[in-house]
Amino acid sequence: MLNAKDLVGEIEYQQPSPKVRPISPELNYVAEIFGLEDPELATVRKQMMEQELEYMSLAPAEGRVLQFLIRGFGIRQIVEIGALYGYSSLCMAKALPSDGEIISLEKDSGRCAVAVANARASVVAEKIDIRCGDALELLAYINDPVDMVFIDADKAGYVKYLDWAEKNVRRGGLIVGDNTFLFGALWGDMRGGHGIEPWMIPIMDEFNRRLANPALYNSILVPTAEGMTIAQKR
Ligand SMILES: C[S@@+](CC[C@H](N)C(=O)[O-])C[C@H]1O[C@@H](n2cnc3c(N)ncnc32)[C@H](O)[C@@H]1O
Repeated sequence: MLNAKDLVGEIEYQQPSPKVRPISPELNYVAEIFGLEDPELATVRKQMMEQELEYMSLAPAEGRVLQFLIRGFGIRQIVEIGALYGYSSLCMAKALPSDGEIISLEKDSGRCAVAVANARASVVAEKIDIRCGDALELLAYINDPVDMVFIDADKAGYVKYLDWAEKNVRRGGLIVGDNTFLFGALWGDMRGGHGIEPWMIPIMDEFNRRLANPALYNSILVPTAEGMTIAQKR
């Protein structure tokens, strides 16, 4: 097992055990090298595994992609749509500067309560604001421009969330969507599960095509296991 020490914080990172979602030799290799998580993140992953919800959350190496973006693009204010147990919000909060903040929205009251408790128990509690309720209703109350929106909730809502993000992300800021391959449905493979139905395909296709517009965005769809679309607003 690979272990690495954080030179600044003296945090012991380790690979999650058991190995998270083996997908392909390429992604297994990436996970082995980059999929390290600290004890707090490992605890939240364990909670999710106990409830058989781990498949819904970011894999550690995907969390690392978000941290890379946050540090590299000087992100301070983030809105996340879809908190689950707060794994990704915790991941992102750990990459924010000391004056940074993430607001994370979760519709399911039980999951939201767990996410709130996990955030409060973490070393970055002051940077995380978990809000319980439907994302579209909660977004209506967020009017200040934000640096980054991370969209990871119901796939049917992605275009509506993009409408909000296009208006509310500052120029130079990021719009990031997870699961943007729609579990294979975009190329006609409906075996991916996750409750995906054919009527959702044009929604995710529009989401990706709008963000692929080079006149509006500096962007890429990163071929993670489930696809992650990353766009910087011009
Ligand atoms: C894929 S999970 C989020 C995973 C989380 N970002 C992570 O990586 O740990 C999606 C979450 O979005 C929530 N959700 C679905 N529809 C929502 C809505 N309309 N508003 C807010 N949350 C919603 C679900 O309850 C679920 O917990």
